[in-house]
Amino acid sequence: MERLRIAVAGAGVIGRRHIEEIAKCDATRLAAIVDPSPKADDVARANGVPRFASLDDLMQRVRLDGVIVATPNAFHVEQALACLAAGVPTLVEKPVSHTYADGVRLCKAVERSGAKLLVGHHRRHSPILRKAVSIVKSGELGPIVAVMGSAVFYKPDTGYFDGVNAWRRQPGGGPILINMIHEVDNLRAMVGEIVAVQAMASSRTRGFEVEDTVAINLQFDNGALGTFLLSDTAASPKSWEQTSGENEAYARCDDDDAYAIIGATGSLGVPTMRVRRYGSAQARSWFEPFQVRVEPVERQDPLANQIAHFAQVIRGEAEPLVTCRDGLANVRVTEAIAEAARTQRRVDLA
Ligand SMILES: NC(=O)c1ccc[n+]([C@@H]2O[C@H](COP(=O)([O-])OP(=O)(O)OC[C@H]3O[C@@H](n4cnc5c(N)ncnc54)[C@H](O)[C@@H]3O)[C@@H](O)[C@H]2O)c1
Repeated sequence: MERLRIAVAGAGVIGRRHIEEIAKCDATRLAAIVDPSPKADDVARANGVPRFASLDDLMQRVRLDGVIVATPNAFHVEQALACLAAGVPTLVEKPVSHTYADGVRLCKAVERSGAKLLVGHHRRHSPILRKAVSIVKSGELGPIVAVMGSAVFYKPDTGYFDGVNAWRRQPGGGPILINMIHEVDNLRAMVGEIVAVQAMASSRTRGFEVEDTVAINLQFDNGALGTFLLSDTAASPKSWEQTSGENEAYARCDDDDAYAIIGATGSLGVPTMRVRRYGSAQARSWFEPFQVRVEPVERQDPLANQIAHFAQVIRGEAEPLVTCRDGLANVRVTEAIAEAARTQRRVDLA
């Protein structure tokens, strides 16, 4: 079968990762790059494809099967709408939109047109997350009572926050908007829809204007409660990045968890996939030992799986695993966490 022609808009950090995965995937090939920066010429040359300065130029000149929008957040909605108007299936990086209101506009356009749009919450394509979801759905943990999650890691002091990256010291550049949206997507997949949040944020350790550490309370529509600890200045491996081993760029700590999903009959550590259950309903007591097993999971790169899935979506063999509405729900919860931290009030989402 002929390879699908994919263009990547935004040849930055994540755009270049997509370009690598497009080349590795049997079903796809890179057709062009869109990036106004002449720096992207090197990427285009290395991949033997043309570079266009704008999406309009690209659409007029190249026949495409799909576009990946990996540009700064503020461009996502307008560029996705341009792809929709041209009838080209689109993978939009997270966050699907810069603001909730803009995201609503995009979702309505997608739903009106029946366009194929996938949102780049790549962890949904993780075998670890998939297995965690299937264990929860199997009911063996019982009704979910609570979830404890963490993304506590240490971002390097030099490079990450200075020079051209100094915007990361300012409001909007912190871990709530950059990192938490991935965790919100994980939490929604494993536990359910989030209906209310509370949050306390601190900038004490780094001393930047933006938060460096946040404690978050969550309420789910199924009644479960959750806590989540987020910090980019914490010497700890308790994050998806360092425990999952899915991205080799991060140092690996595979004996720790980022999540504990806790039901009335058992609990699951993710990503160690350690399941602890009582042998019977009668044996449920803190005086009784747990039966323990580790569920095997094959490690795979979710970004690679995501490209393969995008190819299936383009060919009509699959529906988008992460829809525009999913991406929008993640934006909504993330915005609510930022609002709760700012106002020191509970924010209801229902
Ligand atoms: N899924 C993930 O894990 C993940 C990881 C990193 C970034 N992201 C998301 O990907 C997007 C890009 O992030 P990044 O870290 O790669 O940023 P980046 O700054 O490294 O790259 C952005 C690129 O877009 C180009 N660009 C700017 N305006 C453009 C336009 N109008 N049209 C085309 N290209 C344009 C820039 O020249 C630059 O090359 C963001 O939305 C971010 O949230 C997702």
